[in-house]
Amino acid sequence: MLIVANWKAYIEDLAKAKKLFATGKRLARMTGVKIVLAPPAPFLGMLASRNKSDVAFSAQDISVTTGGAKTGEVTAAAYAAAGVTYAIIGHSERRSAGDTDAIIAEKLVRVFAHGIIPVLCIGEHERDGEGHYLAVVREALTLAMEPLAPKERTKVIVAYEPIWAIGKDAAFAIGSNDLAEMTLYIRKVLAELLPGKNSSRSLVLYGGSVEPENIRMLAANSSIDGFLIGHASVDPTLFSLLVKQLV
Ligand code: PGA
Repeated sequence: MLIVANWKAYIEDLAKAKKLFATGKRLARMTGVKIVLAPPAPFLGMLASRNKSDVAFSAQDISVTTGGAKTGEVTAAAYAAAGVTYAIIGHSERRSAGDTDAIIAEKLVRVFAHGIIPVLCIGEHERDGEGHYLAVVREALTLAMEPLAPKERTKVIVAYEPIWAIGKDAAFAIGSNDLAEMTLYIRKVLAELLPGKNSSRSLVLYGGSVEPENIRMLAANSSIDGFLIGHASVDPTLFSLLVKQLV
């Protein structure tokens, strides 16, 4: 199982960041669950550069630029130099701040150019009765993958994050049957896009109101490979409880 802890802008002081890092390291050692932390950029820089643990680091986003006179932008090259292994690309909170499918496709190219593995977020705004949400997911996945080389496509980690389920609580997360169905659908679309039509090696995560109350059920009833966790990843007690549900 892979857990990506998306700290978003919840963590604003170094002491909290260090405490969460210590928790992540302990959990990775104790449980064998693969833990990836995605802190805000300044903390990521401090923690990732000296990291020798089993925990890996992810950027929450990267700039679409390639450097130069671009005030405020943090490029894939800079993140790679800071010690990140992964980058979340296309999170719905970045999409609502202006990231289009075209920008997301470019960002994927940038991360691969620097040896970073993308965690590509896709997900519908709402579930309609006619199954249009399936077309939304298919389109986002296809537009993101098409510019990539076949070998790169295999490495993309897909995080299915239905927007209607993000930032609430376990009662509002997806049900396990719906998740099982969507995971199969994503693997089917992925297979169409991958060399040899084989998506069995691709990792598919779920994100959206995952908490200690629902993580075990979601993991048990679907073929999901892990989770992208927001609010429940920034409280050490809650995060420990959540990860321990997986062992
Ligand atoms: P949440 O966030 O766990 O707070 O719903 C998940 C995400 O947005 O990645």
